[in-house]
Amino acid sequence: MSKIDDLLKKFPKRIVSVLPTPFHRLDSISEIVGCNIYIKRDDLTGFTFSGNKTRKFDFLIADALSKGYDTIIGIGANQSNFCRILSGVGAKYGLSVHLILNGKKPYKFTGNLLIDHMLGANIHHIDTTDPDVRMEEAERIRDKLISEGKTVYFLPPGGSTPVGALGYVAGFAELINDFKKNSLKIDKIILASSSAGTQAGLVVGQSITKWNGKIIGISVDVTEVELKKIVYELARETAKSLTIDISKDIIYVDDSYIGAGYGKRTPECEEAVSLFARKEGIFLDYVYTGKAAAGLLDYCRSGKIFPGENVVFIHTGGNIELFE
Ligand SMILES: Cc1ncc(COP(=O)(O)O)c(C=O)c1O
Repeated sequence: MSKIDDLLKKFPKRIVSVLPTPFHRLDSISEIVGCNIYIKRDDLTGFTFSGNKTRKFDFLIADALSKGYDTIIGIGANQSNFCRILSGVGAKYGLSVHLILNGKKPYKFTGNLLIDHMLGANIHHIDTTDPDVRMEEAERIRDKLISEGKTVYFLPPGGSTPVGALGYVAGFAELINDFKKNSLKIDKIILASSSAGTQAGLVVGQSITKWNGKIIGISVDVTEVELKKIVYELARETAKSLTIDISKDIIYVDDSYIGAGYGKRTPECEEAVSLFARKEGIFLDYVYTGKAAAGLLDYCRSGKIFPGENVVFIHTGGNIELFE
């Protein structure tokens, strides 16, 4: 048993994700940009159209069930990937789901929102762009449900709690196995980072295994300074629950590929989405993975990744957005 598996065994777990996800080389893109690029296909985690959130729910739903909750509240944007997976998990395990979504109620439900409806989630649309207003409304709905006798598991955006981050501590152990199976020395891991649960879990895994490479989170919304702080705090809490330490020095964030803001397309992101589709038959999205892949391609072209280096791109899912 690996050290990570050993540390994780005290936490309840349910099998939401279909694991391990595939790991393979991107031959065409590697040739085009002159670097060795591998991909971890967490766009194929096998539940409710997949993505990074299923790994978080392997631990989150087990935590909710073990504590006897009957209702879960999730918060996100209308097209939240996290809320889609939450809706599926609630449906499968028999918990009532309330989604607090910012954005006008659309005339027609598409993409993630269509799936949330199909899965039977209770959807509350809040017409605001202010996260504080959204949080106040979520708390109001939580208090109302509690006053009606419900027991409510309240999740922050992205399910990024120390329990949720455990999914990517386990995910890091899976990556190390991929590297071993393929006899690869990987130098860098690149991924889209936002509510920080994915990156925090990975860096905790890195700390446990003492893996000697760089994990680089490409921010899709906030500045490098802000996201580094969020990743560190969450990683520290997660590490504490595993009784290990974590250093700030292994947290790398790059905010150069956000463009005009969250969800706003950039030409580099459009190019990355197109390249992955046309050269590899792999679909990214324009909010998260497209921007992270824009960073990856730029790193290869500008020499931030050397030609001889081996890099892994984690495809965190989100391509349901293409059907918005
Ligand atoms: C497709 C996709 N990739 C990456 C992320 C970022 O993951 P995290 O919120 O754990 O930082 C998200 C989060 O919403 C996502 O939906």
